[in-house]
Amino acid sequence: MSNIVILGAQWGDEGKGKLVDLLANRFDYIVRYQGGHNAGHTIVIGTKKFVLRLVPSGILHPGKIAVIGNGLVVDPLALHEEAGQLEAAGIDVQRQLCISNRAQVVLPTHRLVEKISEAVPGRVAIGTTLRGMGPTYEDKAGRRGIRMGDLLDRDYFEGAVRALMADHITRARAFGVDDAVDVDAIVAQYLEAAERLRPLVCDTAALLAGAMKSGKNLLFEGAQGTMLDLDHGTYPFVTSSSACAGGASTGTGVPPTKIDAVIGISKAYITRVGGGPFPTEALDAKGDLIRNRGHEFGSVTGRPRRCGWFDAPLLKYSAMLNGFETMVVTKLDVMDELEEIPVCVGYKIGGVVTTEMPSTVRELAKAEPVYEVLPGWMSRTEGISDWNELPEAAKRYVTFLEEQTGVEAGCISTGPERTQTVRRAGSKFEAITQG
Ligand code: GDP
Ligand code: IMO
Ligand code: MG
Repeated sequence: MSNIVILGAQWGDEGKGKLVDLLANRFDYIVRYQGGHNAGHTIVIGTKKFVLRLVPSGILHPGKIAVIGNGLVVDPLALHEEAGQLEAAGIDVQRQLCISNRAQVVLPTHRLVEKISEAVPGRVAIGTTLRGMGPTYEDKAGRRGIRMGDLLDRDYFEGAVRALMADHITRARAFGVDDAVDVDAIVAQYLEAAERLRPLVCDTAALLAGAMKSGKNLLFEGAQGTMLDLDHGTYPFVTSSSACAGGASTGTGVPPTKIDAVIGISKAYITRVGGGPFPTEALDAKGDLIRNRGHEFGSVTGRPRRCGWFDAPLLKYSAMLNGFETMVVTKLDVMDELEEIPVCVGYKIGGVVTTEMPSTVRELAKAEPVYEVLPGWMSRTEGISDWNELPEAAKRYVTFLEEQTGVEAGCISTGPERTQTVRRAGSKFEAITQG
């Protein structure tokens, strides 16, 4: 066994939660390394559905330790609410959850600051989740953020948080964002939340180092996706954290030398929520069909997800950045009713065909996808768990994705539940997850 990263290979919502839940059994610690409660990871177990935002999905497995690493931005009130929901479902959060004392704290006034960029005329609206993620990471980089350890230090916290909120309010007012803020009430709420979370906060880098020393295995659970990565994604239409594999190290304090493999999760098609260029977006009835069959509505904000065709250059770029040689192709069943399925194999930009990812959104917006159209299978694949039972055209479709990306599809998901999964014998995926 080893330490592996599971991450989104596209623009998020690829089905990371399902995969983490599927594989968590074989790991001891399941570790989030970036993002915050902008994430929404859905796990379906029988009639029960869980949507996890901050807490790693592995917590649903009794006895596993779920770790919120230093790379996250944590809204203590949102975390408290989520922990309460999990406890109500019978999960032993007090024993299973650990929170880094170095994770950053999200304040309500971070959301106020976010309104400046998202709602003030003349600014480029990213279409964020409005959870205060970006402004909290800004404060982290600006070295004025408040960390979980600071929140627990009552003497320090109150003065620091008042100063930071005053700064946020001043900036918001200057841009005409004049929502009422009850600073005293916020301070009191945060101090109360701090006491409830105190037993769970620790030095998680030291915790994980000790765990590895005693032979335990770690599963890193990425949030968002490669194309939303702050550095490598479709900047500025990205999130504010490092969603790529490198983030697993900086976001947890686990050295890169201890990470053994990465698995990319990709839908059989592609979706994106929020603004930004999207070369293969299907703005027609077929896009609607995917959205409806795939229930492609945001698990955090409920926004309809933009839907489109599998983008091979994008996936290749993602594999290059993250170093994955195997991918999980999810939601194959969603495509059951399509007679023909286009796959983007290149971008035509200014008359030239390329498979490279442009570095600017201006250039990406000019990209016309070059499609190869494959026959659909027009039969039900939902729930199939054996490769040989998939229709020939579906196998051909998956094989075509492999050929175009150079990445093995070691696992295929045919439904939201654990059992609705094809694991391919002899694959790298099996070697990584079973070895
Ligand atoms: P995440 O953010 O990557 O964890 O993905 P989300 O949970 O936001 O979105 C994925 C959605 O697809 C969830 O509602 C899952 O239950 C669902 N899902 C995952 N895999 C499959 C699949 O293979 N087929 C279908 N039909 N739904 C799936
Ligand atoms: P999971 O982990 C899909 C998108 C937002 C917006 C951009 C920036 O469930 O895959 P932010 O609030 O992070 O500053 O918004 O990123 N976004 C996601 N899209 N899945 C997610 O998470 C996302 N988290 C953020 O829609 O375009
Ligand atoms: Mg999601």
